[in-house]
Amino acid sequence: SKPRILVARAIFPEVVARLAQHFEVEANPDDVIWSPQELAARLADKDGAFTTGSQRIDAALLSAAPRLKIVANMAVGYNNFDVDAMTAAGVQGTNTPDVLTETTADFGFALLMATARRIAESEHFLRAGKWTTWRYDMFAGSDIHGSTLGIIGMGRIGQGIAKRGAHGFGMNVVYHNRSRLSPALEAECKARYVEKDELLRTADHVVLVLPYTPASHHTIGADELALMKPTATLINIARGGIVDDAALAVALRERRIAAAGLDVFEGEPSVHPDLLTVPNVVLTPHIASATVPTRLAMANLAADNLIAFFDGRGPLTPVNQPAAARSA
Ligand code: GLV
Ligand code: GLV
Repeated sequence: SKPRILVARAIFPEVVARLAQHFEVEANPDDVIWSPQELAARLADKDGAFTTGSQRIDAALLSAAPRLKIVANMAVGYNNFDVDAMTAAGVQGTNTPDVLTETTADFGFALLMATARRIAESEHFLRAGKWTTWRYDMFAGSDIHGSTLGIIGMGRIGQGIAKRGAHGFGMNVVYHNRSRLSPALEAECKARYVEKDELLRTADHVVLVLPYTPASHHTIGADELALMKPTATLINIARGGIVDDAALAVALRERRIAAAGLDVFEGEPSVHPDLLTVPNVVLTPHIASATVPTRLAMANLAADNLIAFFDGRGPLTPVNQPAAARSA
């Protein structure tokens, strides 16, 4: 009989239809948000799962799902996985790298431009009927072209943002990462490696694109914000928790930095209430990879991982290597 798959959230109907050619599928077309207990109950008899970043896969869930062999996440980030618990239980995890790189880099740049040029704030002003005249300093922001772009987290998306900045806008690009890029990649990105403190002190625009791990928790807190220029902008398209949102709200209110653009939040979809009341922040609801073609490519890659795994070809984009796969 066909392997049984749970699709934990609503996804493109054509991707559910593809999965149904290979598997017995329980889908969630009404996009009900299941509690961890409901998710565990639905996984009790499943061989595989299609997840998004909003389902936590941990030891408790794995022990309630004894047949589960693979969890395919429709996201490049997989901090919703307890990877060690999955590996120990013999459960394969997969993510969706590469297919979202350029789309997400585009969005990082869009959020940087919107923040530095105060696009959201000025639009609210116009819609509120407050535009009565020209004024010399009305919504005067900071320049993108020719400025210094500091990128923390120089994976594929970080490199995409570096290229946009260096080649498109003549920016001076510096980066910080756990490991240095090869000289060839540094040349391609026109990016120079610096220590984190130097990056924070010198960048006009700081963009965060690093994965969330316990080690990257609060990479930007009050101490780091204090190093930044008062004219600087901070962009987070990485994960909530990389920035201390409470400390950021204080820095924005006190104008210790000029502005921030945030696509991700600690405890999202909740947003720190102080961020909702400061004017100099652009807030978007975790949409950096959200174009129709890219979301479809991500869903198809997650499905391809499930199909390849159960065909015995192995996963296409694994995040772990369980020594012994679960049987049955
Ligand atoms: C989105 O945040 C992703 O990790 O793909
Ligand atoms: C994502 O693909 C990254 O490595 O930044």
